[in-house]
Amino acid sequence: MKIVSIVGARPQFIKAATVSRVIRETKGIQEILLHTGQHYDENMSEVFFRELDIPEPVYNLEVGSGSHAVQTGLMLKGIEEVLLKEKPDWTLIYGDTNSTLAGALASVKLHIPVAHVEAGLRSFNRDMPEEINRIVADRVGDLLFAPTPTAMKNLENEGLASISCFTGDVMFDSILYYSNKITREPSRYKSEGIPSHYYLATVHRAENTDDPERLNNILKAFSEIQGNILLPLHPRTRKAIAHHFNIPSNVKVIEPVGYLEMLKLTMDSEKVLTDSGGLQKEAYFLGKPCITLRTETEWIETLNNNQNIITGTDPDKILKAVAMKVTPSGNNNEFGDGNAAGAILKYLFLSR
Ligand code: UD1
Ligand code: UDP
Repeated sequence: MKIVSIVGARPQFIKAATVSRVIRETKGIQEILLHTGQHYDENMSEVFFRELDIPEPVYNLEVGSGSHAVQTGLMLKGIEEVLLKEKPDWTLIYGDTNSTLAGALASVKLHIPVAHVEAGLRSFNRDMPEEINRIVADRVGDLLFAPTPTAMKNLENEGLASISCFTGDVMFDSILYYSNKITREPSRYKSEGIPSHYYLATVHRAENTDDPERLNNILKAFSEIQGNILLPLHPRTRKAIAHHFNIPSNVKVIEPVGYLEMLKLTMDSEKVLTDSGGLQKEAYFLGKPCITLRTETEWIETLNNNQNIITGTDPDKILKAVAMKVTPSGNNNEFGDGNAAGAILKYLFLSR
């Protein structure tokens, strides 16, 4: 069985690392990795390949940044060329980025079956580019891998049950696999002036970075939090802040870090404040209270026991959530048994 796996953005490298490793451990599968080049900075791309032992991509389209149409259009053209040449049994796509959308569209038009890892996620907010990408990917997909019961239910509600399977979440597999390495890996930031007590924050969602009022509210809330905030800053947000805003004095900005460093920083933090999808789950898996700087979440299982609190960007709500005492319950059952990648491969073989 031959698979072309399409990745392009940071969270996709992390998800693909686990599936790709299990593919390499399984007889009878050849994987061709295609990197669209959506993310390209060393600390947004290469670090993950190196750290997580992901094989060098066979193809890198190097599309870089651009408007949605330009970026997706360049990807479509490049992916089509590769698929025509490789003629795989499956195109494997991950998540909800423009790389996901382009992979799905290019493949379905060539009648090459599409399998979608992390299918069925819905925010029901069509202003999010990711929501459009997910809906299209699931609609044209041939095999949909749901990471949670909620995702499975969403697919059933859309009439897609017959091509959907609950596999669990590959990011849960990933935490289990890398947790030994994480605990042994000392955080190099300890020696670089990172305080021993801090809240860990990330912000990159377009709805926050591209709306000055929302971004201002987030920074205002950060400035009013009693304590230090560590902010590994996504390049999109760095650019948005550079033009109009000052970083509060209790916020320590660092460059984006690798996955193992990020998990270590999460483990060592007091709480997590984020608009990231992946980080909400990692906080939940690692038993760290999370505050989600959005008005909704696709990962509603994490809301259990207030382990994840949705605040949007309202400073009052953020400050209240920071002050709230939360006891994580540590129940990760909804995310599978830690072998989502194995289940994905099983279904790919069965549905060939
Ligand atoms: C993308 C995904 C988002 C995902 C995020 C993960 C889409 C529509 N969005 O958002 O779902 O949560 O990745 O991080 O696909 N940039 C750099 N260097 C890089 C990459 C980006 O400087 O290596 C800057 C560029 O100015 C670029 C901006 O970041 O215009 C946004 O990058 P882009 O890939 O378009 O979207 P993300 O915000 O990263
Ligand atoms: N992450 C990382 N370094 C960072 C910030 C995040 O390795 O500096 C990891 C994080 O631990 C999670 C993933 O990137 O595994 C989430 O990606 P991101 O927040 O960019 O995208 P999203 O999940 O929101 O699509």
